[in-house]
This record gives sequence, structure tokens and C-alpha cells, in this order.
Amino acid sequence: MSTDYNTMAKEYQASKLLPWRIYMESYSFLRWLGPIKSLKVLDLACGEGYYTRKFRREGAQTVVGVDVSPSMIDLARAQEQNDQLGITYHVADASKLALVQEFDLVGAAYLLNYAQNKEQLLSMCQVIADHLRLGGRFVTINSNPTYHAPASALYHYGFTSENKGTHEGDPVIYKFYKEDGSYISVTNFHLKKETYEWGLRKVGFKDITWHHLEISPEGIDMFGKAYWEIIMHEQPVIGLSCRKA
Ligand SMILES: C[S@@+](CC[C@H](N)C(=O)[O-])C[C@H]1O[C@@H](n2cnc3c(N)ncnc32)[C@H](O)[C@@H]1O
Repeated sequence: MSTDYNTMAKEYQASKLLPWRIYMESYSFLRWLGPIKSLKVLDLACGEGYYTRKFRREGAQTVVGVDVSPSMIDLARAQEQNDQLGITYHVADASKLALVQEFDLVGAAYLLNYAQNKEQLLSMCQVIADHLRLGGRFVTINSNPTYHAPASALYHYGFTSENKGTHEGDPVIYKFYKEDGSYISVTNFHLKKETYEWGLRKVGFKDITWHHLEISPEGIDMFGKAYWEIIMHEQPVIGLSCRKA
């Protein structure tokens, strides 16, 4: 079953304040993306615009955010209204998107892990390729296909991740906990690393590289090295970058 972000847009937004999101996810993703200044950037599965705003603040020339959830885009547009950065948002399915714009960089934090099979993955990869100029890069952060720790391993960091199996299409269930012990649940789907690479190569990407999460020096200063040991070892999410040939 796919996740309905419309019912939990605000709770998902709050989960972006967890320390691992700030000092690992965000720090690592921005490093994999590299310099953004003056680039035309498309943010697919942009949610409420957490990274979309960062791209613009990092100096991107044009930033467009796309998400299938109207509630997520409502939150993104409300923030744009309060603090106008010049970002355009669209409600659309990233596997069917057809903007008449070409970008230097496509970023996607947690898009490909919604593909349940090769066919859905290929549609997403095709859309990504269609919106990039030749030589443009695609950089993503995704559920890690090789993560197999017990569900509770990451509870310490405010969330859990449970792989329901290792067959393609098997659910990967995340729970993000609130202070009162309640949680929101997000379902991704397992595809093998080779399947992601196959989909990207098939639409013309090369230089496909996987990246491990890192911790920012600030995160180590604030929480100490020991705090990060488990999540650094388990690597629940993973980065991937590639270039349109
Ligand atoms: C885990 S959230 C990440 C949001 C944002 N990238 C972030 O990191 O804060 C995943 C987002 O993907 C969106 N999504 C899932 N499938 C999609 C699709 N086919 N096309 C566009 N967005 C999609 C969901 O609506 C949700 O907002």
C-alpha cells in the first residue's frame, strides 16, 4: 500500500527536525549534490520543500519543486508565500511529469523508493532523464536496499525501519516517533541496487555511484561520536548520483 502524505504532511515536516535528518541526511545529500550556485534545479518528490528551499538558498538560479501530494505542496507554497524565494511548485506524479523546461540538476530525496517494480522505476528514470540537459546530474537519497538491521535498531534516533522481505516490491516500513510515543508510518518498497542501476542505465545515465551517509562536524560536536555509532554502522538510507550521457 502506498503512503498517503496528505494525512500527515505536517507530522512528516516535523520529522525533518530530528538530529539525524539535519546532521546526516541533509549534510550528506548536499555534499553529494555538490555546488548548486547558478544551476537550474528540479526537486522531485519535494514534499513541503525542505530541500527545494535549500537549493535556492545555496544559490540555484531556478528551482522547481514537484510532489504528488497536494497537502505537501500546500505546505511548500505557504512557506514560499511567507518567505519568497522564487520557487515554483507543481502537484504532479514524477513518473508522468512533462515540464517544458530543461535542468542542470535533478535532486530527489526519497522518490525512487516508491517504485514497486521495474516498470514503475523505469517511468521515473525516464522522466528524470527527459528533464536533464546532456551532462546534467541526478542525485538522490533513497532507502538503502542492503539495510537489514532489526526494526528497533534506530529507535534511539527517533525512527525505526523494517524491511518486510528481500523480494522486489516488498514493503519497507518507516515509523517516525513523536515525543508522546505516537508515530507516523511511511511505506517504501524494496528494489535491488542492480535494479536501480539497470533503470538508470537504460535511460542513458552513466557514472552511477552509491554514497554512504556521513555526519557533519557540527553533529559530532553537539552529540559526540558515540551517539552516531549505530546509524553510521547500519546506514538505513543511501545516496546515488549519476550523469546523463
Ligand atoms: C519521504 S517524503 C520526502 C519529501 C522531501 N523530499 C523531503 O526530503 O523532505 C516523500 C515524498 O515523495 C512524494 N511522492 C511519492 N511518490 C511520488 C511520485 N510518484 N511523484 C511525486 N512525488 C511522489 C510524497 O508525496 C512525499 O512528499
